[in-house]
Amino acid sequence: MGEHYFTRKPTARRRPLEFTAVLRGRSLSFHTDSAVFSRATVDAGTRLLIEAVEIGPHTSLLDLGCGYGAIGLAVAAAVDGATIVMTDVNHRAVALARRNATANGLRADVREGPLYEPLAALVFDHIAANPPIRAGKSVVHGIVEGAPDHLREGGSLWLVARTKQGAPSLQEKMCEVFGNAEIVARGGGFRVLRSRRAGNP
Ligand SMILES: C[S@@+](CC[C@H](N)C(=O)[O-])C[C@H]1O[C@@H](n2cnc3c(N)ncnc32)[C@H](O)[C@@H]1O
Repeated sequence: MGEHYFTRKPTARRRPLEFTAVLRGRSLSFHTDSAVFSRATVDAGTRLLIEAVEIGPHTSLLDLGCGYGAIGLAVAAAVDGATIVMTDVNHRAVALARRNATANGLRADVREGPLYEPLAALVFDHIAANPPIRAGKSVVHGIVEGAPDHLREGGSLWLVARTKQGAPSLQEKMCEVFGNAEIVARGGGFRVLRSRRAGNP
């Protein structure tokens, strides 16, 4: 049976790869492998999200469904004193994200498990994800529904999706849960959406 990028314990033959990408003006190297999302290069939607996230120094970010770590590590490299936590359900992705943090000399707490399960009661200033649309609505909606409990007051959920495959229904869901959802970036057939939790940061 074929394996998806969200298989928990991938067994696909290893096809390790390493590439460099410039994200938020910093050059980062990434080790990747088969059975992880966007193995050969940083996905265009992920890039749009990385460049769009407005995050101040000494704030915290959860990279949910981190894959090999592009979002969390780009923010760790670019934002002074940022606290980064990354999670993924895919064991291979988690191992790569840890390896990539070390390889780039960056600090990130990488945890394995579904949705918000590995986080207990941790809360963040920002949650960012390129959600696994192919994993189905229950997972994608689970990311949105679980976000308020893991955001500080005034914190933001940032999601990217294809304009023609997911973005409109995702925006609707974000609006339903947060009461707001704005399009903050568009490009290459993607939209970056932001919802804010009520209250002052
Ligand atoms: C579209 S990929 C994005 C990966 C990475 N953030 C990037 O942009 O390159 C979605 C990620 O979500 C992960 N994922 C799928 N289902 C999940 C779940 N229930 N809980 C946490 N992560 C999940 C997948 O393993 C995959 O790495």
